[in-house]
Amino acid sequence: MNIKRITFTICLLAGAFLSAPLISSAQHAQAVKATQFTPGTIWADNNGVHINAHGGGLLFDKGKYYWFGEHKIAGGAGNRAMVGVHCYSSKDLYNWKDEGIALPISPDSTNDIAKGCILERPKVVYNKKTKKYVMWFHLELRGQGYKAARTGLATSDKVAGPYTFIKSYRPNAGFMPFYPEGTPDADKVDCANPKNKSEGFFCRDLPGGQMARDMNVFLDDDGKAYHIFSAEENFTVDIAELNDDYTAHTGKFSRVYAGHQTEAPAIFKRNGIYYLIGSGTTGWDPNPARWFTAKSIYGPWTYRGNPCKGAGAEITFGGQSTYVLPIAGKKDAFIFMADKWTPKDAIDGRYLWLPITFKGDDIEINWAEKWDLNVFKK
Ligand code: DGJ
Repeated sequence: MNIKRITFTICLLAGAFLSAPLISSAQHAQAVKATQFTPGTIWADNNGVHINAHGGGLLFDKGKYYWFGEHKIAGGAGNRAMVGVHCYSSKDLYNWKDEGIALPISPDSTNDIAKGCILERPKVVYNKKTKKYVMWFHLELRGQGYKAARTGLATSDKVAGPYTFIKSYRPNAGFMPFYPEGTPDADKVDCANPKNKSEGFFCRDLPGGQMARDMNVFLDDDGKAYHIFSAEENFTVDIAELNDDYTAHTGKFSRVYAGHQTEAPAIFKRNGIYYLIGSGTTGWDPNPARWFTAKSIYGPWTYRGNPCKGAGAEITFGGQSTYVLPIAGKKDAFIFMADKWTPKDAIDGRYLWLPITFKGDDIEINWAEKWDLNVFKK
């Protein structure tokens, strides 16, 4: 090898090394075969590289879990989408194989998902009728900060992609909320006379569609899917029905905890009760989580306080909710997934996965340095 080629090779290796958080040999060894979760530490994939799937969601498909999340790059620029949505697969939830970029951003600067846009919290569900994998995400158009507040849609015939971008928009334009039985009159909106700030934002956005930022998708036992998102300048969470194909909003939705500024909604169901976990709105900084329960997906939802207990509970142990995973084939086994953001070096964000403990129908989330799935047997 001549000097030029040696220098080139060294540069290539250094480049590859610097583009991902460094992993110690102990952590690397663990990546070979992990048998436990170690929340907040570097989580190496099958290549020994820290998993790059922030604000993610999981899908269980044909015996494997697929983890979709925001691929972030190093530095502050990593808070914008420079690459796309990354996908990993696993059979045991501890060890993850890199499946590559499921949805690449577009090199075309006029495309909705142009490089440099903000593409957050992607979630994928499978539609049995169309046999399509359907990905929804929060989209902010390039160069507009968080002003656009749109939801984006992409679909694929294959679980790990590639996904094709279909459209982005603000949902439920022209539709008034659905009020489940038991909704107090005080919670009903009259756009001739909005009673507070959040109703004002709702009415302002009625013609063009509601703002849709932090989000999740929930698939109910009856095959219906719902898009749950922070609306009205984050003052309210909307729970919105998707059509049979899961590719559009039907116009039926309810407003949850209006006026209280909730982000990062994650939803699950146990024993016929719906649970919603969210956060406050403090940018990338952690704040106390909040949980709610309801007997119907549309509510009325009851505020239940902070599900986190013990030291660090007041800041969700440094994280923000992202998803709640029901473990396939196990009863009462749910993992609370949160992101510990590192906005100055976005790629270094960590994952906090913790088991949810049930006390009757109440929940608790406790910190654990390390844990494994055997906790669910007790
Ligand atoms: C908090 C949200 O939950 C994140 O997804 C992201 O949008 C940040 N805010 C941006 O500040």
